[in-house]
Amino acid sequence: MSAPKKLFIKTYGCQMNVYDSERMAEALGGEGYVETKSPDDADMILLNTCHIREKAAEKVYSELGRFKGLKADKPDLKIGVAGCVAQAEGEEIMRRQPLVDLVVGPQSYHRLPEMEAKARTGEKVLDTDFPEEDKFEKLKNRPKAKRGPTAFLTVQEGCDKFCAFCVVPYTRGAEVSRPADRILREARDLVERGVREITLLGQNVNAYHGAGPNGDMTLAQLIWELDKVDGLERIRFTTSHPNDMQDDLIEAHGTCAKLMPYLHLPVQAGSDKILKRMNRAHTAESYIRLIERIRAARPDILISGDFIVGFPEETEEDFQATMDLVEEVKYGTAYSFKYSTRPGTPAAERAQVDPAAADDRLQRLQALLTQQQREVQDSMVGREVGVLFEKAGRLPGQMVGKSDYLHAVHVAECDRNIGDLARVRIVSSGPNSLAGELIG
Ligand code: SAH
Ligand code: SF4
Ligand code: F3S
Repeated sequence: MSAPKKLFIKTYGCQMNVYDSERMAEALGGEGYVETKSPDDADMILLNTCHIREKAAEKVYSELGRFKGLKADKPDLKIGVAGCVAQAEGEEIMRRQPLVDLVVGPQSYHRLPEMEAKARTGEKVLDTDFPEEDKFEKLKNRPKAKRGPTAFLTVQEGCDKFCAFCVVPYTRGAEVSRPADRILREARDLVERGVREITLLGQNVNAYHGAGPNGDMTLAQLIWELDKVDGLERIRFTTSHPNDMQDDLIEAHGTCAKLMPYLHLPVQAGSDKILKRMNRAHTAESYIRLIERIRAARPDILISGDFIVGFPEETEEDFQATMDLVEEVKYGTAYSFKYSTRPGTPAAERAQVDPAAADDRLQRLQALLTQQQREVQDSMVGREVGVLFEKAGRLPGQMVGKSDYLHAVHVAECDRNIGDLARVRIVSSGPNSLAGELIG
């Protein structure tokens, strides 16, 4: 048998890309590739790119440039670009960087094995189509390898919302939901391989409406089906849009024991004028009322969010409205970004905010969000939480896992194994994690 070929994948961007990279590795595993941690000994390098930030494409070109020496030493090395930059400017990449052998958009990963074979013959291959078929069905897991206790599972892809700042509807295409039976099959398979917690992924995951046995299913209905899977202990989902937060999903947060008390619900801004210009189709008030309803169903739920400051035409007063909203909601964690123009999106054409003002606002917002995150984390001390152990800690006998609320928790003198779920009392709160002790 010939030695296996080595594959190096570098993943940027969101969890969807992480999931896709796993699927690409599995697909090429069927072609005799094993993964390597270093580009130096690779026979194939894949950059799974993200296009959400400004200059994302430039970074890809400079990353590619660094492989020049490698390719000179090893002419058989194949270099591919996948992900959202590939989708957005595939042909440009081929033109600008002759090192690249293969460009594959997120909807075409199931064609990777044939593309790789073509690339091996010296041909340049590009595929950025949006086919009708379910790529994940074609990418069915080949090796039944053992898995860690947590996994992502894509249930929905693409987005029809067209927020004025965002490239996702262009790079990932229209919203598509996978049929429920395929998701359930994949979930059972993951559980058989050791997974205890599944995070359902989608750019707009709560808009899920995949085919079920009696017509389309909502995300809540899918979660109730997953709730029946023996051995699956925890269910999470991300990312949700406020306008798709239906009643049955809110209710499930109060009644489904496997559904974890954590919700990532981006609002982006607190000024109705800015929300309107962002094309978000919700107001600050409607968002706050929604959070109240969710907290009524599940009082201890941890709310997470995304924010953009310095969106075109944002005034200091608009920014204050964002600060006010944050004060009112009280976030357990959040991601905040300075607006950056994405060519081709509507907001890119508008009057931009002075960068120094935007920087200053971002600092103020992040200071407030960090303080809230601290307070929520500190408030866990003395409480009893579930912890799913993911790895051994640095100290002897110590284990590290995630709480129901997704906080990292260190437990000393812990006789449990990776993949065990335990009740833990939180005893202290450190800079980035909690410490706890086993109960009973
Ligand atoms: N589908 C998800 C995630 C979109 S991208 C959602 O709707 O929430 C993740 C985050 O990146 C967004 O929530 C937004 O806060 C940020 N983002 C997207 N485009 C941006 C841009 N042009 N400038 C700054 N931040 C942006
Ligand atoms: Fe982008 Fe808005 Fe769709 Fe989220 S909802 S992916 S921010 S367009
Ligand atoms: Fe980035 Fe594409 Fe995800 S642009 S955030 S990798 S959907």
